[in-house]
Amino acid sequence: MAQARQPSLLQWFAESAQALVIVRVKKMSNVIVLGAQWGDEGKGKVVDLLAERFDIVARYQGGHNAGHTVFIGEKKFVLKLIPSGILRPGVEAVIGNGVVVDLAALIEEMAALEAHGIEVRRHLRISNRAHVIFPFHRLIEKMSEARENRIPIGTTSRGIGPCYEDKIGRRGIRIADLFDSESFRILYDTLAEDKKTLAETFQLHDTIDYTRICQQYLEYADRIRPLVCDTAALLNGAMARGKRILFEGAQGTMLDIDHGTYPFVTSSSAAAGGASTGTGVPPTAIHGVIGVSKAYITRVGSGPFPSESNDGGGELLRREGNEFGAVTGRPRRCGWFDVPLLRYTAMVNGFDTLVITKLDVLDLLEQIPVCARYRLRGADVTEMPATYRALEEIEPVFETLPGWRTSTRNFGRYDELPEPARAYLRFLEERTGVEIGGVSTGPERNETIIKAGSKLERLIA
Ligand code: GDP
Ligand code: IMO
Ligand code: MG
Repeated sequence: MAQARQPSLLQWFAESAQALVIVRVKKMSNVIVLGAQWGDEGKGKVVDLLAERFDIVARYQGGHNAGHTVFIGEKKFVLKLIPSGILRPGVEAVIGNGVVVDLAALIEEMAALEAHGIEVRRHLRISNRAHVIFPFHRLIEKMSEARENRIPIGTTSRGIGPCYEDKIGRRGIRIADLFDSESFRILYDTLAEDKKTLAETFQLHDTIDYTRICQQYLEYADRIRPLVCDTAALLNGAMARGKRILFEGAQGTMLDIDHGTYPFVTSSSAAAGGASTGTGVPPTAIHGVIGVSKAYITRVGSGPFPSESNDGGGELLRREGNEFGAVTGRPRRCGWFDVPLLRYTAMVNGFDTLVITKLDVLDLLEQIPVCARYRLRGADVTEMPATYRALEEIEPVFETLPGWRTSTRNFGRYDELPEPARAYLRFLEERTGVEIGGVSTGPERNETIIKAGSKLERLIA
């Protein structure tokens, strides 16, 4: 019998070192990129930029209420349901179980991307457990938004909330249900009956052709069938083979159903915890969280906004930052960077690092206000208030930093940025307690600086 050869000490050392390197690389493999404010922070751009270092980009919540803008040269893409990673050749894109899917919107988005030569069918996979948005969900949303004695949330009118309501109410329809037409019809009829009753009760003029929709959705299901699978099994299997996953958040932490400015929020878990429940990847397999924040702040829709600027400052940010919704075209409300808010979102997400976007939008300013603290009824506020009423009463305490009045676009390195811009970033870093690992100074891929030696650099290495 052949004797196993004893490794030499040198060989043993080399192998152990290699194993260590593998463990180190594996330790940093899967990261979440998510919004640290109220959405539209530039997640699409950041995900697109980082995606080339990952094998899979997975969306874990939300639906086509998201609008993630990516510029590649002259081409502009606005991704709604499909993860931004789809734009990178060779990267797989996954729509996880936590996402709500409007099949008509999905098919339309797929066609638009295919028209640009993107091989969507080859690279996209959709969870069989994701819930389906039907046209009657939009109807229910309209009813809820118009309800007397209720302040409208200013939703995107995509049926997101009512679809999640059905999910949590355990009467929703999942993509897997569409493939058994008999049982689908039973589920669908029951759900449709509920909606008809609601519409009647609230005297809502309902023009929905329920029978046609049922048939149409069965047809849609046939078209996407080859892309549907158990994506939790797919992702866990891929990780076992050493593949890296980037989790792409939609909306922002302040729109999270639990941690946001309730009830002026969306209906899903946009914060980091959602990445695990929304994909079936265990929390222990996720190694880092990257927060994306603007150098100022915006919000679309109603709800409290302590650092909002309703004067010329806000106007300037809207104009220079082209702050109009990517999905609805609504003007975004604009305000100054909010330190307490960022400290709060850093706490609930455990940000390892931040990417600050749209620094260039501040280029013209002589002075830049930053909301450094909150006061409420004459006292300092140390915790984020739970009610929107308290948040509406917050008195923001601003500090003013000098501007740089020069363009920050086209800088390749962090230390090349003008000193006042670096001082501004240092201030944000010190006050929020989170490192700023990346800075974006324009919408294009190459207008991003990753700080040498930062945690961000190590996370994506
Ligand atoms: P997302 O929803 O977080 O992906 O963000 P949106 O796409 O809704 O909004 C961000 C907008 O800012 C888009 O129009 C981007 O093209 C643009 N953008 C991203 N980063 C920068 C930046 O650093 N500077 C400027 N001027 N625009 C940026
Ligand atoms: P991305 O991914 C900004 C806001 C809506 C509304 C609230 C609830 O592009 O950052 P919903 O339709 O979700 O029930 O609306 O949430 N909202 C967003 N605001 N960016 C988004 O997505 C948003 N998605 C939803 O304006 O105030
Ligand atoms: Mg957006």
